[in-house]
Amino acid sequence: MSDDAHELDTVPDATVTDDLYANPGLAEHHWRPTDVDPKMEKRAERQVATLFGLSTICTILFVVSYFTVDKTDTFAGLGAQNLTLGLTLAGALLFIGIGVIQWARKLMADLEIVESRHPASSSEADRAATLESLDQGIAESGIGRRPLVRNSLLGAVGLVGVTAVVPLWDLGPTNAKVTKEQPYPGAGLENTIWAPGMRVVRDVVGTPIRPGDLQIGDLVNAEPEGLFNGGPDGEPLEGVALQVGKSKGAVVVVRMEPEEIIPGKGRENWSVDGIICYSKICTHVGCPISLYERTTHHLLCPCHQSTFDLADSARVVFGPAARPLPQLPLQVDADGYLVAQRDFDEPVGPSFWERG
Ligand code: FES
Repeated sequence: MSDDAHELDTVPDATVTDDLYANPGLAEHHWRPTDVDPKMEKRAERQVATLFGLSTICTILFVVSYFTVDKTDTFAGLGAQNLTLGLTLAGALLFIGIGVIQWARKLMADLEIVESRHPASSSEADRAATLESLDQGIAESGIGRRPLVRNSLLGAVGLVGVTAVVPLWDLGPTNAKVTKEQPYPGAGLENTIWAPGMRVVRDVVGTPIRPGDLQIGDLVNAEPEGLFNGGPDGEPLEGVALQVGKSKGAVVVVRMEPEEIIPGKGRENWSVDGIICYSKICTHVGCPISLYERTTHHLLCPCHQSTFDLADSARVVFGPAARPLPQLPLQVDADGYLVAQRDFDEPVGPSFWERG
């Protein structure tokens, strides 16, 4: 019999209780074979030690296979080294786990312990003192005697919640028109700064682009020229106007063989010599995109891997985006530069609002 069991012989039903509490009704305790039979106890001890020993062997095999198994060998189509490392590591961890479980089940002390605690609630005296102090605070504040202060305070506190509600208005539809209240071009979710005849210029530097500047397979990040000269007196946009114009007007311009383009219905004249232009803003949740694979014409969004086929109206071929990238109709102006025929026909960016 184990030492624990010997000690517990003096305690009825092997439950350690204290003097304050009687047994609350725990089931009668049954000793395990390893508690009462020294041979079984020794046997269990050997079993546990064997399991830990097997884990040690697996770890040694792990190290040996790391240095001896050729990385290029395969077994059943799997990398031989990966397979041996995986199996030996799994064995090492598994045998430790099983050994610990056996140790706990068969050898660790099998006791049920009742722990006494003092009552959690406050004493009557403490509760009375708290209430008294509360009443005293209310009386001293004079809130009962000053209804004007009390009512204005209640009104102010109730109204302060409005500050959390009013901004929700921004989630609703916006006024798409450019008005005095929205004096910058391209305000509203439905519009961008793009306008008929506006040049497509290179991102950051603002250089206009001629069709001959682009090779087959090129992708250029571009912007509306209006960012650089769209102010009231032809000056560059600034502040909010610049941020809004830039965030919604960013585009990618790609060139491919004209015969590779599958024009959408009504879009037959939206490209120029195989040059085609799309919004750079992903229609999933609005990341800017420009990872382009020229052989497949696929544009990949780095955020959640939405993939668009630029040869086929930026159709979604993979990922969570729900609609193609909006296409900007292109033409060439009198000076031979790429310009927009007009604004996008549809909203750019995430498709979280209804389209007309
Ligand atoms: S933002 Fe492009 S896939 Fe999510």
